[in-house]
Amino acid sequence: MKELAISAYAKINLTLDVLGRRPDGYHDLCMVMQSVSLADEVILRESGAEGLTLKTDLGFLPGAEKNIAAIAARAFARSSGADLNGLEIELRKHIPVCAGTAGGSSDGAAVLRGLNRWFSAGFSLEHLAEIGAEVGSDVPYCVLGCTALAEGRGEKLKRLPALPPCFIVLCKPNFSVATPELFRRIDAVKLRFHPDTEGVLEALDDGDLAGVSRRLFNVFEEVLPASRRAVVEEIKNTMLDQGALGACMSGTGPTVFGIFDDEAAAEAVADQLRRTYAETFLTRSV
Ligand code: C5P
Repeated sequence: MKELAISAYAKINLTLDVLGRRPDGYHDLCMVMQSVSLADEVILRESGAEGLTLKTDLGFLPGAEKNIAAIAARAFARSSGADLNGLEIELRKHIPVCAGTAGGSSDGAAVLRGLNRWFSAGFSLEHLAEIGAEVGSDVPYCVLGCTALAEGRGEKLKRLPALPPCFIVLCKPNFSVATPELFRRIDAVKLRFHPDTEGVLEALDDGDLAGVSRRLFNVFEEVLPASRRAVVEEIKNTMLDQGALGACMSGTGPTVFGIFDDEAAAEAVADQLRRTYAETFLTRSV
């Protein structure tokens, strides 16, 4: 039986800035993105069943109609003419769901990369990212991965020098945040601070991990409801007190990450946080 497994890496935002609302209702963003070693497994296989089928190990995820992995597959089929009949997509989830770490978008991107190989379509990564833009704003970046600058809705991408090797602790608080709601909150305030994106780009050029880490910044932290912001701050402080070079919330949250140059310190913080927050992971940059 033909089968193909692809890793779908989680992402973090080293910076996240919202520049303004667009006429189409989306927002112009400026984000430095980084993929990390925490990954879902996406498996494509021949099923012998009718149509496109989707199976996951998390019962509450959307099925083949609404799951972003299946939506990506249909977008690929429209673009390539590929026939999805008899194809099964299996998602083995490890990335937290609704967490600001692009779990769904990454699954969608992995499906695009996988189907490109499955059907020997020969599409470039840039073309796959264009298809991904129809599926979700973070999908184009997830097609590319590694360290990148994402602008526009998230579809204007530029590869950046890789983040120097480091250890990244991810910790998801026990609440979820609705992305459209946080964008509405952003529209309702005048943001007081913005990330030093130029400084981060220079630090990446210089291979300066500490320089990147002390400039981590996400404008969405400012508009979190107060009780949730307090949890995010507490997790950040726990990481910083125990040796993180920097700590920040990723995406629209609520996952908080800390960057460490010392593996033992990262492991100790991860062990401590996991006692309160089960979805805590020690990862590396990819
Ligand atoms: O594109 P995607 O479906 O991932 O976006 C989810 C939601 O996030 C959108 O409905 C929109 O409210 C918000 N969004 C935005 N501007 C972006 C990306 C997302 O307003 N650039």
